[in-house]
This record gives sequence, C-alpha cells and structure tokens, in this order.
Amino acid sequence: MAKYDNNFTDQLRERLSIVDVVSRRVPLTKKGQNYWGCCPFHNEKTPSFSVREDKGFYHCFGCGKHGDIISFTMEMEHVDFMTAIKELAEMAGIPLPEYKPKTREQIESEETYISITADAEKLYAEKLFTSDGAHALEYIRGRGFTDEMIKKYGIGYAPKNNIIANKFVNTKQDKLIATGLVRRGEYGLYDFFRDKLMFPIFNAHGQIVAFSGRSLDGSEPKYINTTDTEMFHKRQTLFGFNFARENIHRANRAIIVEGQIDAIQMQCNGFGETVAPLGTALTEDHIAILCKANRNITFCFDGDGAGQKAAARACGIILPFLRDNSDVRFAFVTGGKDPDEILRKSGRAAMEKIISSAVPLVDFLWKITNTNYLVNTPSGKTQAEKFLKSQLEKITDKLLRAEYEHEYDSRKFNEWHKWKKKSDVQNIDVPDIELTTKNTLMFIVNKYPELAERYGDFISSFNLSFESDIPDMNLDFDSAEKYLISLKLQKYLEKLNSDRKQLVADALKNNNSESIKDIDKKIRAAQEKLELLLDLNDK
Ligand code: UTP
Ligand code: MN
Repeated sequence: MAKYDNNFTDQLRERLSIVDVVSRRVPLTKKGQNYWGCCPFHNEKTPSFSVREDKGFYHCFGCGKHGDIISFTMEMEHVDFMTAIKELAEMAGIPLPEYKPKTREQIESEETYISITADAEKLYAEKLFTSDGAHALEYIRGRGFTDEMIKKYGIGYAPKNNIIANKFVNTKQDKLIATGLVRRGEYGLYDFFRDKLMFPIFNAHGQIVAFSGRSLDGSEPKYINTTDTEMFHKRQTLFGFNFARENIHRANRAIIVEGQIDAIQMQCNGFGETVAPLGTALTEDHIAILCKANRNITFCFDGDGAGQKAAARACGIILPFLRDNSDVRFAFVTGGKDPDEILRKSGRAAMEKIISSAVPLVDFLWKITNTNYLVNTPSGKTQAEKFLKSQLEKITDKLLRAEYEHEYDSRKFNEWHKWKKKSDVQNIDVPDIELTTKNTLMFIVNKYPELAERYGDFISSFNLSFESDIPDMNLDFDSAEKYLISLKLQKYLEKLNSDRKQLVADALKNNNSESIKDIDKKIRAAQEKLELLLDLNDK
C-alpha cells in the first residue's frame, strides 16, 4: 500500500475540520468545548461519542474508539487508507499530490536546513550585542523591546558583511543556498540579509524556517523576508503562531494584526493569541490554519485606507470558513497608526477598548455594502444586492446562509427603503430644494454614475425619489461636476449662515465675538469660491 507523507496528511488535517467530516455521518451538537453525538461504532441511545475540533480527534466514552479524520473515514466507509485520503482531498478541494514518500535524503536535508537556520539565528543574536550591532540594539530597545523579548523572539542583527557565507564554509553550498540565507554571485556566495534587524520566522512546530529583516537606515523596502523555500511558504505562514497556539485555545479566539512587530507587542501585552501574516495579504491558507485552532477570529487592521481594504478582502476570504459557532469580528485601530503605537502610547487598556469594540462580520459586511454602493439609487441598490448575494453564496452551511439572508432582507427593508417613506412623511433635516435642482440631480445620478459615487453622501442628503421619470438634459460631465460643487458650496453657506445666527445669539450672552469673526472668515472664503465657480461656468 502506498503511503502519503506526513506533509500531505497534515495538510488535510489542517484544511478539514473533524466536526465537518464527522457530521456528514453523525448528527452532532455542541456542548461546552466539545461536540457530541451517538457513536456510529457501537449501538447507543445517549450520546457518548465526543468530537474535539481544536485537537482534531474523536473519542467514544462508550466503546473507547478514538481517531482522526482519516481513521474515521476508513472505518465508516470500510475503505483503505489511500481511498480515504482521496476522498478527504476531494472534500478539502486540494489536489492529490503524486505519491512521494519522504526519502532518507529529504529527511536529512530538512534536518540540515533546520540546523543551519538555528545556527544562523544564534549568530545573529550574538551580533546584536556586539559593537557592529549597537545601532540595531538601540533601535529595537527604542521600540520598547526588553532583553527578555529579544531573547524570546530570537531577535538579532545581520551585519554588513557575509557573515553566513563565511561561517558556513564547510557546509555544502547547495544546502546553504536552500535556506535562502545566501545566494550565489559572480564572486562566490554572498549573504542575502545585510545590515538588517533580524526576526526569525518559526513554523508551527517552533523550528526556524525563515527570517524577516528590517532595514535600519530608512531604506526601502522596510522589510525583506526569505523568499519561499522547501520549508517556508510565505502564504501559509502566520508570524507568531507557534507562540500563540496555546493562548488561542485559552482565550478561545485569535487576533490577526497587520505587522509582525504589532504581533509581538500584542503577545507581550496581554494578547497572547495574536498573529500576523508576513507582508502578504491574508490567504485562504492563513484562515484555514487559524480555523483549525479556533473559529473565533478578530481581525485588527490599521485605521488607514489600506487597512479598510484589507479588511474587506479578509471578509471575502473567511466566508467559506464560517460555521454556526464562528465569531468573526473586525476592529480598526483609531488614535494611532497600528497596535504597536497604541500599546506604547496609550497602553493595554486602550488596545482592549479597540478589540472589544470590534464589529461582528454580519455588521461589517453590511457596512461595506453600504459604503461601496450608492444604495439609494436604483442601480446602486441593484449592484449592492448582487454584491451581497455573491458574498453570501460563499457560506457553505445552508442554514447559516439562510439566516444571513434573512437578516439582510430585513435590513434592506428597514434601511434601504427608508428614503421612500421619509419623502412622504417628513422632511425635517433636509433642505427643501426646488424641483429643477432635484431633476438635475436625478439626471446626474443616472447619467454619470462616477459622480454619483464621488458625491454620494451629499446627493443622498436630498432624498431623491426615483419613482418619477428621469429628465433628459444637456449637461456634460465637467459642468455636472461643477454644478454639484457649487450646490455643495451653497448648502455649506446656508449652514454657515445659520450657525452664525446661533453664534450671534450666544455672543450676546457670553460676549464672545472671536468665533463670529472665525465664521465670517469661512463665509467669505466660501462665497469667493462660489463666485469663482459661477464665473467659470459662464465662460
Ligand atoms: P507596515 O508598513 O504597516 O509596517 O507593514 P509595520 O509593521 O508598521 O513596520 P514597523 O512597525 O515600522 O516596523 C506591515 C507588515 O507588512 C510587511 C511586514 O511583515 C510588516 O510587518 N512588510 C512591510 C513587508 O514585508 N515589506 C515591506 O516593505 C513592508
Ligand atoms: Mn508599525
């Protein structure tokens, strides 16, 4: 019988949840940490068959049967190992590799690899505390790293010269090159990492498989990582996972941040369950690894535009992994640029506040739908519906998907149709605008979707009704935009003038004329802009 190597069976165990595999045959219910059902291997009426998702095994307290996804499939279907593997690979959606047992040679070369990277790490770590590494040590201490942290995370310094190539002269060149630490050049081997602050990258077993080097002189790129090797696949590696694993179990959730220093600072400041991808956007593999450990995941992205974008992407990736016991949330860093900065400037409590204010996936998906589409126009609403539908289709659990659909149906009804009701019932906050203005806006929204998007917030404040006919007008793109801007300025002026009235009333009481001067300045500036714009329009 052919045998697959551990890599592939591990990959299957990583990709497939034992709960999913078992519940295709045995109905399970969750009680506490475990799932329970009636044992399929002996006759029973009360469930004594337990399934532990985090550990990936089942155990029957009635008959003592015990095993993982592979043995379960073999026994339930009365098939051999190979057939079970094939079936599971199909279920996981990963292609069956050519049968390749690990050869002696392969095992040896992996051992050599790990011993080289381990020695390299020691060398870098020593260098950090020599005069060569003084600037690196000063830098990392300046970022709040204690000696204890430096030791735990194996931080070091790669000097400017070929320290690795020189140190390992007696190692076979190919073996050395295989680790990505050196490259072959015209004049022999040279080091890949030079004058870098070095962070070892550990695999899930705690072995060093790669390094990430941070530039110290402000040169770009800020970080360089070992390029993929036999033992390091960037897209399948989560920084800090080896340290976080136990904590994820204990905290019953994982936190994902954007940067590796963020992950370290989080781990050292009470969030031991934190990991980070390595300079790539999040991948399915990252999520699969985390879901295997725990289905409760809080994403914590930087508050900038890139963070928002990354969050939307993560949302799309995690949907197929959702189960009825998943708790997926999205937090955004505010009051600083990243978790590292928050922790150092404002402390643990501030970070706790950010994490605990994370919004559930159901709300986040609703939010991005509403920000990305102009949902109070007919075409925008249609696009939004299509987008939502395409996202929900990714949820594999049918009942769960139905729940989501139901939830969004009611939101659509309550929130998207409000503008219709509003225009019948009340018009309190909305400035009353003439019919011609409304017609012009309606025309612009329909003819120039780009403008509708750009000025969406502003346009939606007019509560346009699309039930009447859309007028046809003679207005090119540029004039339409100028029209929108001048309308915006007019509204702004109206607001300034009404604020001014209030200020004048207050000033009589408080004798504060400064703020009136300020607002007058703003009014003059807005008026000038408006005149300029109207002037241009005439020409
Ligand atoms: P950031 O640019 O947000 O950097 O990149 P950072 O984590 O705040 O870096 P520090 O705090 O200034 O040291 C986020 C992550 O993207 C990867 C790194 O893993 C980094 O932690 N990255 C960034 C790269 O791989 N290469 C780069 O050039 C920049
Ligand atoms: Mn940072």
